Amino acid sequence: MASIEKVFITNFKSYKSYSLSIDNNIKHVVVYGYNGVGKTNLLDSISYFSNSKGLRGSSIEEILPKNQSKDKNTQIEIQIRSLKKNILNFSLRIINDGNQFKKKFFLDQRKTSLTKIKDYIKIIWLSPYMDKIMYEGQTLKRNFIDKLIAQNDGYFNKTMLNLKKDVSERLNILKHSKDEKWLNLIERKIAVYIFEIFDIRRKYAEKLNMIINTQLNQFRKIRLEYKNKLFSNLQNKDKLTNLFLEELKNKRELDEITKRTHFSINTDEISIVDIENNISIDACSTGEQKSSLLTIILANCWKLKNDNKEFILLLDEATSHLDAMNFKKLFDEVDKFGTQIWYTGTHKKLFQVIENKGFFIHLQ
Ligand SMILES: Nc1ncnc2c1ncn2[C@@H]1O[C@H](COP(=O)(O)OP(=O)(O)O)[C@@H](O)[C@H]1O
Ligand SMILES: [Mg+2]
Repeated sequence: MASIEKVFITNFKSYKSYSLSIDNNIKHVVVYGYNGVGKTNLLDSISYFSNSKGLRGSSIEEILPKNQSKDKNTQIEIQIRSLKKNILNFSLRIINDGNQFKKKFFLDQRKTSLTKIKDYIKIIWLSPYMDKIMYEGQTLKRNFIDKLIAQNDGYFNKTMLNLKKDVSERLNILKHSKDEKWLNLIERKIAVYIFEIFDIRRKYAEKLNMIINTQLNQFRKIRLEYKNKLFSNLQNKDKLTNLFLEELKNKRELDEITKRTHFSINTDEISIVDIENNISIDACSTGEQKSSLLTIILANCWKLKNDNKEFILLLDEATSHLDAMNFKKLFDEVDKFGTQIWYTGTHKKLFQVIENKGFFIHLQ
C-alpha cells in the first residue's frame, strides 16, 4: 500500500511551520479539530502533488501566508512509502524569481515535474469545494471528469496538451500568415486529437459505469453519458475526422474574428444520470448530489486499483453529510482499496468506527 509517513509545511496558508510523522503502515489518518484550525489546509498541502492549484484551486497569492513578508520561502515536503518504489521524498517550493512566484517540484532534492510525480502516485480527494460540480452546468462537470481521466491515462493527458498547443497555433496562423497548407496540416492533427479525446472519454465512462454497477452496490447509482450533436457513435474514425476537419475549416473566419475555436472538445455534452430517479443529477437534492459525487470518486479509485496504480485518498469533511451508518459503509468500502485514506472532521467521536484502526491528529 501507499502511505504518507511525514509532512513538513513551511509558510503555507495558516501554517508557519508544521511537521508531522505518521507510524508505518497506517491506513487511516484522522485529522480533527474545530472549524478554522487548518484541517483542510493540511489536506490541501498534500493535494498539490497531484494538482498545481491544490484541492481548493488556490492561486499563488492565496497560498502565501497573509500578513507576512513575501520573501519567506514556502515549502511543502511529503515522504511517501510506496509499494513499488519504497521511500519517495517529494517537495514543492514556491520561489520568487524577480517579481514572479513560481512553483517548483522536487523528488529526492532533484527537480521534477508534476506529471512525473503523478506517474509514481496519485492523490485523489473529495471535499465540500467540489459540491458545485454537480449543480453548476456542463463546463465544470466535463473538466472534472477530464481531470479524472487524465490522472488515469497519461496518453489522454498528452493528447489534451497537444490539442491545446495546436489550437493556439491555428489561431495564430489565422491571425497572421493564413498559410493554407499549414492550416490544413494543423487542422488534420486537431481533428485526430479531438476524435481520440471523444473516444477515450466514452471508454472511461463505460468503465466507470461498469464499476458502479458491479462493485459499488452499497452506494448511490449513477450513469455517465457523453452526447454529441454531430454523431451517435465513434465507429467510423475516418469519416468522423473528416467531418471534424470540415467543421474546423468552415469556422476559420469566425474563429479568426472572435479569436476563439468554435469546434472543439467542448461540443461533447456530459450527463450524469441518477439511476434511482432516472433524472439528471442537476435536478437531484443536495444530499443526492453529494452521494453521487462520492460514487464517482469511489469508482475512479477502483479503476486506479484495478489498473494497479498507487493512490492516496483525502476525504475532507466526508462525515458532515453522512450519518453513522453511511460512514461505516464508506469506511468499509475505502478500506478495501488497501491504501492510505485521510479523513477530517470537527470531533474525534465522529470516527468511532475506526477508533482502534486510525492514527488521530488533533489540531488546535
Ligand atoms: N494565505 C493564508 N494565510 C493565512 N491564513 C490563511 C490563508 N489561507 C487560509 N487561511 C486561514 O486558514 C484557516 C484554516 O482554514 P481551514 O484549513 O480551511 O480550516 P478547517 O480546519 O475548518 O478546515 C482559516 O482561518 C483561514 O482564514
Ligand atoms: Mg475544512
